[in-house]
Amino acid sequence: MQVLATIDAFRQARAAYGPLGFVPTMGYLHQGHLSLIARARRECGAVAVSIFVNPTQFGPREDFERYPRDLERDLALLAREQVDLVFVPSREEIYPEGFGTYVSIPAADEVLEGAARPGHFRGVATVVCKLLNIVQPTRAYFGQKDAQQSIVVRQLVRDLNIPTQIVVAPTVREPDGLAMSSRNSYLTPEERQAAPAIYRALCAAEQRYLAGERDGEALRQAVIAVLDAEPLLRPEYVSVADPLSLRELEQVGSHGALVSLAVRIGAVRLIDNLLLEPVTTA
Ligand code: PAF
Repeated sequence: MQVLATIDAFRQARAAYGPLGFVPTMGYLHQGHLSLIARARRECGAVAVSIFVNPTQFGPREDFERYPRDLERDLALLAREQVDLVFVPSREEIYPEGFGTYVSIPAADEVLEGAARPGHFRGVATVVCKLLNIVQPTRAYFGQKDAQQSIVVRQLVRDLNIPTQIVVAPTVREPDGLAMSSRNSYLTPEERQAAPAIYRALCAAEQRYLAGERDGEALRQAVIAVLDAEPLLRPEYVSVADPLSLRELEQVGSHGALVSLAVRIGAVRLIDNLLLEPVTTA
């Protein structure tokens, strides 16, 4: 495994490989990341991973400074996965003095995470664009947990003609349903006990949907009822939206729906989602 901190060194090392699968991360790796890496290995042969806590996707009052970091542990995990190339740039390597070009997707800022976190997707799109240019992967792997991020990345790649195939893999969950996230490490034991209500709330909407409910508001209320029963959870938004446009739905139609939410538990903000697959009637 080669660990490279500069763009020049990474490019030189990358030149020795043909098709490459790429998993961009902000580190503090968990099973969700490792499952993306395993899939990249199966599908591409060689695998590159980046670890970079990207400052431009955090708002001024967000958790950039305290975002969990443990490079030594991450590198040990990646070595065990036999990752070929690891890119660990400094902030100055990615954003040198004079840096001034950003990629923005205004439509993404209007809904869900984009509306809740102004500037977030501009930061994500900019760094993903840079990383794809540096790494030049055949395929890049993202988790469904960040559903809107995957949509933004797919649009970025399409709009800017970046020759990388985007793969979105299912969310990996703890046995009690909590979606894996580096931010779970912030939870106190009490908050951690309350957190599985997030997935239970999403499943409540899914059950109503499978029982025939198609009214968007009724499905939203099914989620909210479960969240409200857990005093430590404070919902920020609950959405039942078209899975592609992310526009809120009055009625779930032939595209199915993305049920997504953000909640606060104490000082921690977590997101999760579930896709309601289109139901075909015979
Ligand atoms: O999902 C993440 O960890 C980040 O948003 C990403 C894609 C690595 C960009 O910083």
